[in-house]
Amino acid sequence: MEKDCERNGIIGVVLAGGLGTRMGRKTKTGYRIGTNKHLMQVHDRPMIDYPLETLVSAGIKDLVVVIGPEHVESSYSALRYWEEERDVRLCYALQKSAGGIAQALGLTEFIVGDRKCVVILGDNYFQDNLSDAVEEFKTRNDAKIFLKELPDELLFEIKDGKKKSRFGMAYTQEGKVVEIEEKPEKPKSNYAVTGLYMYTPDVFGKIKKLKPSVRGELEITDVNNMYIQEGRLGFYSLLGFWSDMGNPDSVYRTTEFLRNLEKK
Ligand code: DAU
Repeated sequence: MEKDCERNGIIGVVLAGGLGTRMGRKTKTGYRIGTNKHLMQVHDRPMIDYPLETLVSAGIKDLVVVIGPEHVESSYSALRYWEEERDVRLCYALQKSAGGIAQALGLTEFIVGDRKCVVILGDNYFQDNLSDAVEEFKTRNDAKIFLKELPDELLFEIKDGKKKSRFGMAYTQEGKVVEIEEKPEKPKSNYAVTGLYMYTPDVFGKIKKLKPSVRGELEITDVNNMYIQEGRLGFYSLLGFWSDMGNPDSVYRTTEFLRNLEKK
């Protein structure tokens, strides 16, 4: 593993901790359907295969996967395919409670070390190929996020009686991201921050400075805003289909997209 990591200096991080509460609405998905959200079948594969495919097809084959404490064994068996048939080298980190995306990433420091990392959320589907972005990232000392312009009907949800964006929302000025807000009620743009991030090794120092948000999590949006303050956050706009698969509607939408793709 070290040999390959040294060659390109980049490691992939797949975040599949958390509890999947939005999937089951009132109860945790795991208890209701007997498996982890990321192992649920979406079209013809477990959900987590899609973000792994995104990294692997961009040439990233050294990966750390963060998993939650439930269904560890089934997560491990589902992922064996990648080691046995796709020549991927996998390490695991355990997140004992859902303390947030930034907390999950922080847990991988002992494996990532001083390498750059490409981080992807275990419930995100990307149609775009990332190879060019990864090549560019190797030559730079800044972080990157990936934005997707969405119509209003995909942007909002009603939560606790309030209409809010479902995503982190980014505001750009003169080709630069100037601010990111996590799930604002009145977003100033339609650019959603997708679950794909490229970070320099100093990301771990930033995570250590975070305080929990109102929802009690260490927020990846706060990390991205720290990069903005340093003038070190670039962005790409995604051209292809993107969706999270964090609730039943978005799973349905992704499945529909994949079915149509297969028919072409
Ligand atoms: O999907 C993109 C969105 O993902 C971004 O626009 C938001 O800025 C970002 O905060 C995130 O929002 P969500 O609230 O939708 O994230 P969620 O809590 O659903 O977690 C998404 C994935 O991240 C989940 O499938 C597994 C991983 N995760 C999440 C938490 C909270 C962890 O590994 N550990 C965690 O503690």
